[in-house]
This record gives sequence, structure tokens and C-alpha cells, in this order.
Amino acid sequence: MASRLHLFVFPATKATMSKRAFSEDMTEFATVMALRLSRRNLLRGGAALAGGSVTSGVLGIGLLSPSSGALATMSTALGFSPVPKSLEDRLLLPPGYRYTVICALGDPLQAKTPPFRNDGLDLDFEHRFGDHHDGMEFFGLGAHGRPDSSASQRALIGLNHEATTDERRSSFFVHADGGRSDLPRPAAEVDKEMALHGISVFEVRRSGNDWRYVVDSPFNARIHLQTGVQIHGPARGNALLRTRYSPQGTQVRGTLNNCGTGRTPWGTLLSGEENWAGYFARADDDDARRRNDRSVIALQRYGRPQGAASRHGWESAGTEQRFARWDVSVRGARAEEDYRNEMNAMGYIVEVDPYAMTRQPRKRTALGRFAHEAAAFSKPVAGQPLAVYQGDDARGEYIYKWVSAVAWDPADAVAADRLAVGDKYLDHGSLYVARCNSDGRGVWIPLALSNPLIAGYSKYAFADLADVCIHARLAADAVGATRMDRPEWSAVNPANGEVYFTLTNNSKRTVESADAANPRAYQDLREDIKAGKINKGNVHGHILRLREEGDSAAATTFAWDVYLFGAEASAEPAINLSGLNADQDFSSPDGLVFSPATGICWIQTDDSAYTDVTNGMMLAALPGQVGDGGPVRVAGTQVVTPVGRGPSSATLRRFLVGPKGCEITGVCESPDGTALFVNIQHPGENTAMADVNAPDLYESQWPANAGYGAGRRPRSATVVITRIDGGRIGT
Ligand code: FEO
Ligand code: CA
Ligand code: CA
Repeated sequence: MASRLHLFVFPATKATMSKRAFSEDMTEFATVMALRLSRRNLLRGGAALAGGSVTSGVLGIGLLSPSSGALATMSTALGFSPVPKSLEDRLLLPPGYRYTVICALGDPLQAKTPPFRNDGLDLDFEHRFGDHHDGMEFFGLGAHGRPDSSASQRALIGLNHEATTDERRSSFFVHADGGRSDLPRPAAEVDKEMALHGISVFEVRRSGNDWRYVVDSPFNARIHLQTGVQIHGPARGNALLRTRYSPQGTQVRGTLNNCGTGRTPWGTLLSGEENWAGYFARADDDDARRRNDRSVIALQRYGRPQGAASRHGWESAGTEQRFARWDVSVRGARAEEDYRNEMNAMGYIVEVDPYAMTRQPRKRTALGRFAHEAAAFSKPVAGQPLAVYQGDDARGEYIYKWVSAVAWDPADAVAADRLAVGDKYLDHGSLYVARCNSDGRGVWIPLALSNPLIAGYSKYAFADLADVCIHARLAADAVGATRMDRPEWSAVNPANGEVYFTLTNNSKRTVESADAANPRAYQDLREDIKAGKINKGNVHGHILRLREEGDSAAATTFAWDVYLFGAEASAEPAINLSGLNADQDFSSPDGLVFSPATGICWIQTDDSAYTDVTNGMMLAALPGQVGDGGPVRVAGTQVVTPVGRGPSSATLRRFLVGPKGCEITGVCESPDGTALFVNIQHPGENTAMADVNAPDLYESQWPANAGYGAGRRPRSATVVITRIDGGRIGT
């Protein structure tokens, strides 16, 4: 097993904090650190962490509020043997568990589409599963195929297809010879690649302890980049949404880079659009074509400066509108004559009714436009508004909260017109952004023109509420929100309503920019070093959690702490701040889902820092609550951070390790907790395009090497995990 060298200035010291008030300790430690640390040390070391203490201990069951009837079946200890880290090209589970591949890239979603050959010659991807399976949600089917949120025998799964495995523009595993990477891209290849993005809805059925997907189910459906989608909320009909396709600014074709998910209390799927910006191209002189108006600032802020090249070159494939739309340069006299505004129609939470897929999805623009991950609902309380918690996954971006204008009516949980219920709770309300103060408190800052910081922002003159929603990042800049270490998934603990955010890593975090909520900046040297590769910044990520004031979804203040720091078990205590052991260490937390059935928090990784030691993984956790630990000094950054009680071997264990080159992402389960569906995204993604027809050179051959499907090209896939004794997963 490789050991790890980390650079830091001071030797690790163990200093147990007193139980005095946090602010008192913080003052003391800030003073101590100011005395001990010199600027010269920090710069010379390139990274600096020292000290810190975390008290490990077994989580008390009281933290899970067992008095609540709804939580009577919640777990108080994990009931499986931890899985060791692994570099094998297979999926590993604890003894007593097994998995079955349910569906993979290219499998047909209707009976008349032929089985997937997996040789690059397959067609009809509009009727096959797309690529890069990501977030997913479970929607039960009861008698006569009607929605039933308690059904555990038959269900629909809503599944995101985030992206494709590509190199130099081409999604090479779906083309026979790897495809063409130079411009112009062939139209046939681009059509195939566009169809691989979006969302699948498919039916699954249980027989005993076995599950399968139903290839000819009338419920099966695909949303891809040619599917009509409605713009809803404040931006509907706004001038910034007008395009040649939709002169009224009310529609767009498709949804893009669907990453995390959410399940609404009324039984629909929410899907977050994440890395869409990279798919659009801009001409070298587009700033001048736009007369250097406000849109130039907005495009810059969203990662599309003039001259930006697109990820796949789709805009080059022809003059047809389905290709031309990927060039957002000014080409015509008016916005209705070109696609200058096409990018403004991507970057939202999209609502889909999985039970009624003939209805067009709705983009909920009120929830803001950014690199969305998950959309996690507050626990619905009759008579109180609903909150939706969201992260923006880019370095230094923000955490957001949506609060509905109207109070929750439990009758809406079983309403027949589910998208109309979505209009009610997701089109009208307030968007907030988080500021995490250094004292363990935080503030939700409203993003609206009524906020003078936004109305008077000097860098961008907001025109109206639609402009604030479309350019939520600029509005968040204006109000001084906290720049986080890449917020990925959000999740709400069903036991106590606390809200968790994975902060996956941040190579740009520095000692100088570190703050209490993003406190680590250090260097990590890989042992398999490809020519001196050094990981810098917050290399392994952390998980932050917050508790709303008065446990109210509409609160404007909260308390927060860091639940868990990712780290390698062999790292110095100054970096391994949560005291992780070899059965629970991880890097780059990403997917994060609480099981309503067991209360287990599933943590999934999308990592490149620890991949010399282990493939991507999923861990099971039983966290405590905000404030169950204490302040920890993070030396070198001169910050003191509230950190939760460290995990014990009973409260955090590795449950699954995936095949080579994969990210583990997306979890949903049957309501009885006995079947857990998990996605294995992009196994073998580090395969070279030149080796597309040399299987022995693939980084991974999963799931073919596990006996699933034709060919040997690796495929993203959904697996279902069950216990051999049929019991609840993880308990
Ligand atoms: Fe699609 Fe940020 O993960
Ligand atoms: Ca993610
Ligand atoms: Ca990811």
C-alpha cells in the first residue's frame, strides 16, 4: 500500500479543545496561531497545516431522535464488514451482499430497438440508455401502474445521463473507429453524441430478491437534446431567452449535463444541469459583435469568453439549427435570428414527471442558473414553506437555497397534475445564497432587486428578477457570499432536517483564501507520480452541514460545522482532521444521499487524488448533528473551524469500491430499504482514444468482464445491490 507524503510546516500536534464557548476558543487559538506561524514558513512549505484535534467516539443513538415514530427503523450502527480499498477492475461489496447490472449505456428502451452490440456501430440512441449515468430517483408503481410512493415491487427510475467519455472532442467509445476529432465533426457522430445526453425513465420490477428493467414498458422514455422543454419561472419570455428556435423565449431543445437529482414531495424528478457552458463556442470577435454590452460580462462570468472552443465541436457539423445552436456568437441582426442566447436556456433545475413523459419537462428558472448538482428538499411541514438546497459545482462557487412563496399543503403529495404542483412551489418564492461566518453561524442572503447590494452592483446592472435568476452567480458575487470548495450534492438528514453539502475539492484554494468553512490548503504527492504530479489546495474535500435557525425552512440564519474531512488514513493528523482509518478513508466526496428507510448517509466519490491507491467508492455513514464536536485549529491558514465529532468504525465504513476509472454517483432505493440502486459512471475513462479497438489496453472492461452485455468496451451502468438474506441494505 502506498504511503503518502504531505508537505506541511509544523509537526502534527494533538491539542484537545476545551468545552468552552466556541468564540472564546477561537479567539485564543487565533492568537496562538498568529504567534506560531510566520509568512515565510507558509510560503516555503507551500502548504501548512498543524495541530487540530478531533475526538473520536461512538455515535449515541439519541442523535438520531429515536423518539420520532417515523424514525423507528433508523439504524444506530452499521451492520456490514468494511470493504478494503481496491485497484481491481471489478465492483466490490461486503460479504453477504451481491449486485446485478440492471442497465448500461446503449441498452434498448423499447422492444423494436435491437440489443446493444457495443462495437461503435449501434444506432437509434434516442431509444437507448444514454451515457454517464449520474443522479437517479425511485418512483413507485402500485396497482394498475398508478403512482405509489410506498411501492417496493415495481417502480420507475429517473436517471440522469451527464456526459460522454471523450478525448479531443469525440465520444470515442460509441464510434466504430473512435470518431473524428478534427473540425468539422461528422453530423452522424454528433447526432449520436447529442442523443447520449439527457435523462432516461425506465421501469424496474422485482421478482423475489431479483430485479430487472422492463425493456418494453410503455413508461420507458428518453429526454435528449432534441426534446422540447418549457422555460418556466421569472425568465420565461424574457428577452435574454429569445432565440431562433423560440422567438418568444419560452422553450428550448433538451436538457444538458444532468448531474445530481432531487425528488419532489409531489413525486416528480428534479435534474440539475451542470457543465453545460463548455458545450458552447464563441467567435473570436464576439465581444465587439455584442457591442460590449452587459452580456459580455455575463458570458465571461459563466466561463465563455470570446474565442471559447466547445467541448465536442457540435456547432461545426452543419448549418442545420440543431448544430448551429451550439455557437452562441452574434450572427444575425436580432436575437430571434441566431443563437446568441441559447446558453441562457441551460443551467437550471429541470422538473420531469416520470409518470407522464408525454408532457414536456419544465426548467425552473426561479431556482437560479449555475452548475447545478442536486436539489434537496427540506422536510415538508404542513403550513410552512418548502426549501430546496442546491450547490454550484465550480471552484469558488456558492451554496444556494430556494424558499417557496406558498406553504406546503400535504394534499399536493397525491395531486394528479404534478407539474402544476411544481409551478406552485418552484416558480414563485425567494432565492438565497449562503455566507458562512467564522463563528459557526451563517446567513442566507436574498438574491433580489430589493437587495440594495444587487440593485446597485457596480459590475453588472441587473434589469429585472429574470436577470438575477439567469445570472445568479453575478448576484451572489454582489452580496459577498462565501466562495466554497466546489459544492457538489446536497442532502437533508431525515432524522433531524440538517442539510449536508459535499465540497469535493478545490485545487485553487490557497492558504491566503482559506476561511473557516473551506479551511484546508496543502500539497499531496502521489506515489505513482506521473512526472511529478502534485495535487494542491483542498485536495481531498470535506462535507459541511448546517441546521436552520428554529429548524425552519424559511430561516435566514443557520448554524454550521464540518461533518467530515476527506483524507488518506496514512496522512498526518494535521490533514486527516477527522481521524479516518483505513476502512473509511476517502477523497473527493461528491454524491450524497440519505436513505429514508435506514437513515444511512451514502457518500460517493469522484476522485483523481487517491486513485493511485483505490478506485472510486461509496461509504455508509451515520452522522451526528451540528455542534457535536468542537473547534479545531487548522494551522497555516490561521482559521479555526467548527468540526463535528469524528467518526468511529461503527459510524463510517466503506461499503463499495467500483471498477477502474469510474465515479460512483447516484443512489436510490426501494422504500423498504432492501434494494439499493447505484450508478457506476465512466469506468475506463482514462483509456486512450487510439486504443478504442484494443480491448487489452482499455483501463477497464467493466461490466463486460462481470458477464454483462456484448463487446468489451466499458460502459456506464446502473446496478442494484441486495442482501443475500433479503434484509435492509447497510444495517
Ligand atoms: Fe457532475 Fe460536479 O459532478
Ligand atoms: Ca457530482
Ligand atoms: Ca463529479
